[in-house]
Amino acid sequence: MRGYLGKTLTIAAVLAMSAGIARAEGSVEVLHWWTSGGEAAALNVLKQDLQKEGIGWKDMPVAGGGGEQAMTVLRARVTAGDPPTAVQMLGYDIQDWAKQGVLANLDDIAAKDGWDKVVPAALQKFSKYDGHWIAVPVDVHSTNWVWANKKLLDGLGIAQPKTWDDFVAALQKVKDAGKIPLAMGGQPWQEATMFDGVVLSVGGPDFYKKAFIDLDPATLGGPQMVEAFKRMDQLKGFVDPNFSGRDWNLATAMVIKGDAAFQMMGDWAKGEFLRANMKPGVDFMCFRTPGTEGDVTFNSDQFVMFKVGKDQQAAQNAMAEAVMSPSFQSSFNVVKGSVPARTDVPDTAFDDCGKMAMAQLKQANDKGTLLGSMAHGHANPAAVKNAIYDVVTANFNGDYDAERAAKELVKAVALAQ
Ligand code: GAL
Repeated sequence: MRGYLGKTLTIAAVLAMSAGIARAEGSVEVLHWWTSGGEAAALNVLKQDLQKEGIGWKDMPVAGGGGEQAMTVLRARVTAGDPPTAVQMLGYDIQDWAKQGVLANLDDIAAKDGWDKVVPAALQKFSKYDGHWIAVPVDVHSTNWVWANKKLLDGLGIAQPKTWDDFVAALQKVKDAGKIPLAMGGQPWQEATMFDGVVLSVGGPDFYKKAFIDLDPATLGGPQMVEAFKRMDQLKGFVDPNFSGRDWNLATAMVIKGDAAFQMMGDWAKGEFLRANMKPGVDFMCFRTPGTEGDVTFNSDQFVMFKVGKDQQAAQNAMAEAVMSPSFQSSFNVVKGSVPARTDVPDTAFDDCGKMAMAQLKQANDKGTLLGSMAHGHANPAAVKNAIYDVVTANFNGDYDAERAAKELVKAVALAQ
């Protein structure tokens, strides 16, 4: 008996020890929605950095641009009492989860590594709750961008549009030449992403702020908002018949291949151009939504660390430190199309679009026109964001004309607050 039991116990002891050894190095389970080619390439930078430190990576990708689907899966995991170690999250969603008291306190690491000194206040607003660090900022994206296939534009004699009217004229010229003027996917988050730049282009930063951050009813329903919806109607006339439901990176691929001229999308799109070995200024162009030059509607991807057992905390802390390391902040963002979340990272490794984005972020921050993206959860909590999504989509699908959309926007936002 002893022999058999002894043998069993020995095997159990070996298994426990090996599990213990595996746990001593630790691993992290990360829930995210970075599933496109460019996004996955950027994420690999982090996986490799952690591997060098002996930290294993359990991937939990949830496809769906903008992260709506990922947040749904997260709620199910937390409800089941089984939160991931770390989760990609945006803006006000971070604050909402922090309110639940389920996020780990990262103050010790933040103090040790001096995060307060290097992370811009606009990001700290979301990385902290009640004065405590509860999230690690990975990047700073922005949404008021246009991407273009340079060879296609050159062939049609189209220069970079500087004003909205120039942009509409360029779209029309592409259409007259039988090419697809505007590549996009008919999904609410994509239409809302375009709307960020369109609203900013109509009334500038003060109008954008009063509408989307202050939620001023007179502004949400006023003549400038009617004009913004009219511009969305104009854009609708330049998309292809198969736009509905298309994923954002497939729209980017249309511009990469030269089947379409323009895409209005956040600068994660740049990650796709880079994956296709395209060079800015040679193969593709990056420029701010015409009329928004000098202002930035931003969204920062952050990793929130959920409260986990003691045995996972070492790996979790190692991931937090790895994400905020200056070398990672450079190498990740170069690939991702975003800019670093730290202000002390040089732009040397970045291409011309990246260098421009870093300079514009600083300029906008200095002059107070660095504005939280409505479409990506940095202007107001999810309930308000989704209420705006619904009206923008109803307008883009033709259910609401511009006047009706502005009226519905006031009502929808009031109900969501
Ligand atoms: C944004 C996110 C980006 C990218 C994009 C498309 O919300 O900040 O990193 O994932 O969605 O899915």
